[in-house]
Amino acid sequence: MSIAPVREHVLPDYMKAVDLLKVAPRTMAVDGGKVTLGGVDLLDIAKRFGTALYVYDEDHIRHQLASYRDEFKTCYPQSNVVYAAKAFCCVAMDKVVAEEGCYIDVASGGELAIAQAAGFPMEHVIAQGNNKSELEIEQCIDAGVGCFVVDTHEEMERISAYAQSKGKTQRIIIRVCPGIEADTHAYIQTANEDSKFGFNIRNGAAEQALSFALTLPGVDMAGFHCHIGSQIFELTSYVEAVNTMFAFMNDMRQAHDFVARIFDMGGGLGIPYTIYDRPSTIAQFASVATGAIHANCSEYDYPYPEILTEPGRSIVANAGITLYTVGSVKTVPGICTYVAVDGGMTDNIRTALYGSKYEAFVVNNADKPRDVICDIVGKHCESGDVVVKNSPLQACTAGDIICVLGTGAYCNEMASNYNKQVRPGVVFVKDGEVREVVRRETYEDLLRRDVY
Ligand SMILES: Cc1ncc(COP(=O)(O)O)c(C=O)c1O
Repeated sequence: MSIAPVREHVLPDYMKAVDLLKVAPRTMAVDGGKVTLGGVDLLDIAKRFGTALYVYDEDHIRHQLASYRDEFKTCYPQSNVVYAAKAFCCVAMDKVVAEEGCYIDVASGGELAIAQAAGFPMEHVIAQGNNKSELEIEQCIDAGVGCFVVDTHEEMERISAYAQSKGKTQRIIIRVCPGIEADTHAYIQTANEDSKFGFNIRNGAAEQALSFALTLPGVDMAGFHCHIGSQIFELTSYVEAVNTMFAFMNDMRQAHDFVARIFDMGGGLGIPYTIYDRPSTIAQFASVATGAIHANCSEYDYPYPEILTEPGRSIVANAGITLYTVGSVKTVPGICTYVAVDGGMTDNIRTALYGSKYEAFVVNNADKPRDVICDIVGKHCESGDVVVKNSPLQACTAGDIICVLGTGAYCNEMASNYNKQVRPGVVFVKDGEVREVVRRETYEDLLRRDVY
């Protein structure tokens, strides 16, 4: 018989909800025992819409989009911000992005369909993805997307053939793998030499892709793209990527007389999930990245391209929270206290996937210190079904409402129906109002695809 090891002793941190505001949405306020978001009491939201529930602070989302737009324009006027819809995608979100004057990147036909339903200007849509299907390529060209980021020769051939058949010329940029090991989790590094994404510079694939693109009718070869990874704290990774890309672009000018009109530097800026995280600000990112571009244009006497940046996480992660109801509390003496909630890996897979960390508090005990260390676990049939591991938390009991902060990115989008769990609804709060933007799934939704 094996005996579970006693957990490493973790000291409680005694912080209250008010101490966590650094990682909370901008309009979250804690007044004694009452916690509001967008001027609305979180307990009222939980009661009205049920739990588990994703709640977004619309002001926070708009603030992040506007900061990117303005900081980049200040440092580099020919720049545009392309929101990476994969971080959080729904019609209401796409409308906010359009209203803030940003572009959008879609990574599938599904994300394109949502953008179309939102009435997003198609010339401001960038089509991404390392293996776009023929149908997705056709849908994007028919919709009139502004640009494709191409990953393969097959894709370029398909774009060329379909664009010609429609009498169109489709703008493309080539995704290049600069061979950078960004300072982040291996699963979200995307520009190593050994990557499924893009064309490597070092083995000559990127140059071959350019030569090929330049021969294709129906295609306007406009520039290059790179995306080095996600949740990046070290801005030097971006400087390294920009330097590598411009050295390559200069070589391509000499070898092929090709000058890039667009340089897309991808997304990836890190965010604070815990109060101990110290990511760079958007202003620092804009200044460092565009500083490197200015320096390279000057060094190589390279004409200034339009630059695109593709943030996802840093727009929405801290804007969103998840509310859960506690179903049970179980203490295994000397080992762990398990606080089980009415969701789990189906609404937040990131903890199981990457060992992600979060801050959490008990909404109805917000003014009490977090003096219990527990695992906040889900209701699913996996031991790895953990939402927050070793979480400091206020003492709680069945029926209490837990708020997990920083769940606005890659949680709703990666949600599943494991155990036939219905996926949570999504609400936006702003100026004292709550609006449901995605309704909670129902059992009818679960049955809709069964044929019987
Ligand atoms: C091509 C591309 N652009 C942008 C992003 C957005 O990255 P982040 O959410 O880290 O800003 C991703 C995310 O994986 C991506 O693959």
